[in-house]
Amino acid sequence: MPKISKVGQAMPSSPIRKLMPFAVSAQKEGKRIIHLNIGQPDIDSPEVSFKALKEDPRTIIEYSPSEGYESYRENLAAYYRRGGVDVNTEDVIVTTGGSEALIFGLMSSMDPGDEVIIPEPFYANYNSFAHMAGLKVVPVTAVIEDGFSLPQMEDFEAVITSKTKAILICNPGNPTGKVYAPEAIDALAKLCLKHDLYLMADEVYREFCYGDEIAGSVMNLNGLAQNAIMIDSVSKRFSMCGARVGALVTKNVALRATVMKFAMARLSPPTLGQIASEAALLTPDAYFEDVRNRYVARRNFLVKGLNDIPHVLCPEPGGAFYAICRLPIDSGDKFCQWMLEEFDLDGDTVMMAPASGFYSTPGAGEDEVRLAYVLDIPVLEKAIACIRRALELYPGRTT
Ligand SMILES: Cc1ncc(COP(=O)(O)O)c(C=O)c1O
Repeated sequence: MPKISKVGQAMPSSPIRKLMPFAVSAQKEGKRIIHLNIGQPDIDSPEVSFKALKEDPRTIIEYSPSEGYESYRENLAAYYRRGGVDVNTEDVIVTTGGSEALIFGLMSSMDPGDEVIIPEPFYANYNSFAHMAGLKVVPVTAVIEDGFSLPQMEDFEAVITSKTKAILICNPGNPTGKVYAPEAIDALAKLCLKHDLYLMADEVYREFCYGDEIAGSVMNLNGLAQNAIMIDSVSKRFSMCGARVGALVTKNVALRATVMKFAMARLSPPTLGQIASEAALLTPDAYFEDVRNRYVARRNFLVKGLNDIPHVLCPEPGGAFYAICRLPIDSGDKFCQWMLEEFDLDGDTVMMAPASGFYSTPGAGEDEVRLAYVLDIPVLEKAIACIRRALELYPGRTT
C-alpha cells in the first residue's frame, strides 16, 4: 500500500472538530447537542448579498482575477478606510477565506525551519498552517488570570532567535476574546521594527468589539508599513462563513508580488462569494450595532452564568464571540468527550472545544475549555445548566 506523507501524518487535527465522531454518536442516541464548539454564528447573512446573487447577470461562473475583482477590492479598501484603517485598493489581495490569506502570508514571508512567535492560546489552525509551511510555532503564554492580555515585551524578546521572522497576533482574539490595548500593539510594533520582523495581524473579528473602541489595525501603525500584514475575512463580519472570501492586505510591494504568485497558482478566489461579499459592503451600520448588541447580551449572560458556578473562572471577553473558561476538572479533552458520551440533562448536552488545542506549550490550558457564544440566550441558559450539572457528576472533578 502506498505510504502517507510524514507531513500529512504530523498535520495536527482541529481541536474544534476532533470530537465530531462523539457528537455524531450522541446524536444517533437521540441527544440534542448544543454546539458551543465552533464559531458558526446563527445570525442571518445580509439580505443584500442574496439579492445580488439572485440578480447577477452573469451566465458563466467564470474565474475572477487572481487578486480578486477590481470593484470588490476598491469597495473593500473604501470600507476599511471608513473604519479608519489605512488601506488602498492595490494593498488588497482577495483570498479564499482568511485561512488562505494566513497560508499565503506565512509561506510568502518565511522559509521552512523559520520561527513564528504567537501569543497562546491562539486560533488552533495557526498550528496547521505553520505546519503546512514547515514553520516552527514559538508560543508566548498569556494567562487567564489577567484576561489574556498581551504578554510583556520581555517575554517576546526572550524567545526571538536568528530564525524568528514574524509575530502573529489575533485582535480581537480567538479563542480568548481579548481586545489588545493600543499601547500593547504599539510596543509590539516597535519590537518588530527593532528585530526586523513581520507583524501579521489576524483582524477577522475587528467589528466585534464590545467596549467603546474598535480594535486598532496593524495597518495604522507608524513606520510599520513594510512589516505589517493584515488578515481579513467576511466569514464572521457578515456571518458569511460559506462564502469563502477573505483578504491579505499589505503595503509591502515585494511581499504582495510574492503572495500573487501563490494566488495565481490557485487561479482565483470564489466568484460567487465575491459577488455576495461586495454586496454585503452596502450593509448599513445599524446591522453591526444590532449584531454587537446581541453578542454583548449573550456574552454577559454566558460569562455571568459560568462564573456563578463554584470554582469556575471565565474572564469577560472584550470582543469576538468566544470565551475561555477554567473548570475544576482534570482534563478539558476528557471532560468535553465525557459530556458527549456519558452525560445529558433531559436529553441535552453541550459540545465545547477543549482549550489544550489552542496552546502549543504541552500541558497548558489542560483545565480550560473554549465556548463560542453564537447561539441565543435561551439556548445558552440550557447550556449553562448542563455544564453546572455535568461538573457535579464528572468523575475527573478536581475540587
Ligand atoms: C481567528 C481566525 N482567523 C481565521 C479564521 C478563518 O476564517 P475563514 O477562512 O472562514 O475566513 C477563523 C475562523 O474561525 C478565525 O477564528
